[in-house]
Amino acid sequence: MCGVKITVLDSSDAVARALAHTIADALREKPGLVLGLATGRTPVDAYAELRRMHEGGDGDWSRASTFNLDEFAGIAASHRGSFRQFMQRHLFDGVNIDPARIHFLNGAAANLDAECDRYEEAIRRVGGIDLQVLGIGRNGHIGFNEPGDELITRTHRVRLLQSTRRDNAPLFGDDPSEVPAEALSMGIGTILQARRIVLVATGAKKADCIAQTVNGSITTRVPASVLQVHGHVEVLLDRAAAARVRPT
Ligand code: PGA
Repeated sequence: MCGVKITVLDSSDAVARALAHTIADALREKPGLVLGLATGRTPVDAYAELRRMHEGGDGDWSRASTFNLDEFAGIAASHRGSFRQFMQRHLFDGVNIDPARIHFLNGAAANLDAECDRYEEAIRRVGGIDLQVLGIGRNGHIGFNEPGDELITRTHRVRLLQSTRRDNAPLFGDDPSEVPAEALSMGIGTILQARRIVLVATGAKKADCIAQTVNGSITTRVPASVLQVHGHVEVLLDRAAAARVRPT
């Protein structure tokens, strides 16, 4: 499929290292990098590697800006289950990023639609995202763009599927009913506007959605399949996640 470069590595550790090095190299090349970031279990080891690299003197984050893909609605950034706190624990606390350059959707904003517009404008104002990191849900979602009859281009409010709430329960004391029912997410068009995209997936549970993403037709039922239209996407997989990919 055009525009997508697939790299299959031996282990999830190797995927984490490859993602960390992709980010570190981009940061070295452009110290004022605008980085789109993802939460979820998959990038956590890469973030740990970036913290280690920074501690060892590799990686100056002082001029970098970050924009995370999504956030739960109805909880404050200070809530332990928020993606903002997740990023603080897994990455931001361990690197010298300027807090003023960390951008997040505010799920506690009084007017959530206006908050989505503000985020789009903030991305536009810094000149767009240079490198967007993506995980993928088992159902093919990217950010919180869930499968359905349509996909929304811009940053928007989303009603989360039960399966997604279950997947996020570990952040909320393992109780899916505690996971907010709504979230805010960059839209598919927002993601596609990033100049470069790196999608990471590991484990057998991701084998089907990855095969659909890279070999299937483009469909709103597999939101990640739209990445096929982007010219500069890299997909980093371990062997288990790559098991059903057909050579193109
Ligand atoms: P995971 O989540 O990395 O925890 O599998 C990915 C996602 O849902 O986007």
